[in-house]
Amino acid sequence: CGIVGYIGMQPASEILLAGLEKLEYRGYDSAGIATVNDHQVNCVRAKGKLHNLRRKLDGEENPAQLGIGHTRWATHGKPEEYNAHPHLDVSGRIAVVQNGIIENYRELRADLQAKGHLFKSDTDTEVIPHLIAECLKVPEPAAPATVTSSPFLEAVRQAVNRLQGAFAIAVIHADYPDELIVARQQAPLSIGFGQGEFFCASDTPALIPHTRAVLTLDNGEMGKLTPLGVELYNFEGDRLKKSPRTLTWNPIVVEKQGFKHFMLKEIYEQPGVVRVCLEAYTNSTWEAGQTTPPVNLDLDPSLYQDLQHIQILACGTSWHAALVGKYLLEQLAGIPTMVQYASEFRYAPAPLMANTLVIGVTQSGETADTLAALAMEQERRANLEPQFSPRLLGITNRPESSLGNLVDNIIDIHAGIEIGVAATKTFVAQVMAFYALALELAYRRHTLPESRIEEILVGLRQLPGQIELVLESQERYIEELAHEFGETQDFIFLGRGINFPIALEGALKLKEISYIHAEGYPAGEMKHGPIALLDAKVPVVAIAMAGSVYDKVLSNAQEAKARDARLIGVTPMDEKEAEETFDDLLPVPVVEELLSPILAVIPLQLLAYHIAARRGLDVDQPRNLAKSVTVE
Ligand code: G6P
Repeated sequence: CGIVGYIGMQPASEILLAGLEKLEYRGYDSAGIATVNDHQVNCVRAKGKLHNLRRKLDGEENPAQLGIGHTRWATHGKPEEYNAHPHLDVSGRIAVVQNGIIENYRELRADLQAKGHLFKSDTDTEVIPHLIAECLKVPEPAAPATVTSSPFLEAVRQAVNRLQGAFAIAVIHADYPDELIVARQQAPLSIGFGQGEFFCASDTPALIPHTRAVLTLDNGEMGKLTPLGVELYNFEGDRLKKSPRTLTWNPIVVEKQGFKHFMLKEIYEQPGVVRVCLEAYTNSTWEAGQTTPPVNLDLDPSLYQDLQHIQILACGTSWHAALVGKYLLEQLAGIPTMVQYASEFRYAPAPLMANTLVIGVTQSGETADTLAALAMEQERRANLEPQFSPRLLGITNRPESSLGNLVDNIIDIHAGIEIGVAATKTFVAQVMAFYALALELAYRRHTLPESRIEEILVGLRQLPGQIELVLESQERYIEELAHEFGETQDFIFLGRGINFPIALEGALKLKEISYIHAEGYPAGEMKHGPIALLDAKVPVVAIAMAGSVYDKVLSNAQEAKARDARLIGVTPMDEKEAEETFDDLLPVPVVEELLSPILAVIPLQLLAYHIAARRGLDVDQPRNLAKSVTVE
């Protein structure tokens, strides 16, 4: 979810809407704003995307100069208007927006209901305004050191102390028209400093159009924003002294540039992204025997020292990139590597291993599960013998994100802002980061001859041109092919070895944007289950790249063909055997197996895109998803 807030001298509602537009990537199930004017709260909410809210507010003059806004990704309660934020207390005078999950909301709600509070939604958030109202009624006796500067702030402080879970909130009150209260616990929240006006938002893009002076709250911190300034406190009520930093980040105008959707534009940006990654990570003039290293990621050398294991934590598409990474790190650098979903790792971490590099992969740098898993690893490794001490590395498209705050060593994947919710170019860029890391480690640990490193680098440099060729030669054909799947309900994607994660990614892309059920499977495993699903109505996409498993994948494809499945092959160009095996061919240039994932994924992205676009679906903002999921 995304939250914004404004207090100052301008009409708040347009500023709030513009801010929410910048945060829509965090969810778009519903949206709402609440403003304070004339000692009244005015709250307007709408189901669905932000433009529904905009339409509802159209033509309404609203002079209010204080307000909060929210764009929701549903956790507790359906994406209906009555569950949309802001939520109000019984009197309708306190309004709250929240990002996160209040874990003890059931107890709190029961307690408040017993005291006569009526609830109108199914959300966890609604307990907060009621709780604040209750705290305002009976101020708990505050210890001398904990007296904050206003009764409203004090009530919010007492309320947040009773909340368990991860949350960021912004609160307004009709009786306190000069105060906007914010608090943060495990969910991002930043304050923007203007001239006689102040802003808050869960991410900086919403602040940048107004100010570059930004202060990011830490966990357990809260603030009172007034038109005159900002006061900061911890949850105990102690006053804090902190100053904003100046963001140097330039807002980039993102436009579709003639493409029908951002996703298609981002697919076409991939050759450029690979070029930028190569430039950033590798030494373009390096040859075997040269004394300067071939790859430089600017990481702290202590990360590499006596390295014995690598543990990678990620979610979604980033998890697929991590699986390709595991293959590269094991096969090139010889380091045993484990990949786990961050959400699984949190509650069943592997036993502590010595000399382990822990890598978090998240394009947004904001995924709550990935951040929490890394923080946990940092914590459980603190104060142990040196060989167990935490060595954390982040791979992200947003070095200035919460991940950047948590982890000192970052590989920036330089993909440029990605708008399409289904990740494409950030996936390819993450895989490029893993090539660089694996080669850097292989060079340092002498696990590969330098001539082999040179060969791989030469191969990597051909990729941008080869991706261009795939885009040029395949898109029209794939667009036509997509027509044939108007009625299709299931797809199977097969791959092996380094391309097994690509089968997973191809299936995920299709699921995410076309809502067609799709499964990615290691080709050799199909016979142990999924084969039962096959008939003429279930197309099978097999990734059969030249190399160690090529013949095996072709045989696995034949097994599917024998069950009447329509066979689509992502194959090397001009392969006779492949031409005979598959009903439809999506050929890519011939490269060595190690480099093939980056080419194999391109036709799969195009296939998912065109099937979804053909069905008239909202490709860039598919239902139920969010670009970055900031709750557990
Ligand atoms: C969300 C997105 C996925 C993404 C995943 C991980 O679920 O819809 O496309 O892969 O989060 O995101 P991250 O920012 O951590 O890479």
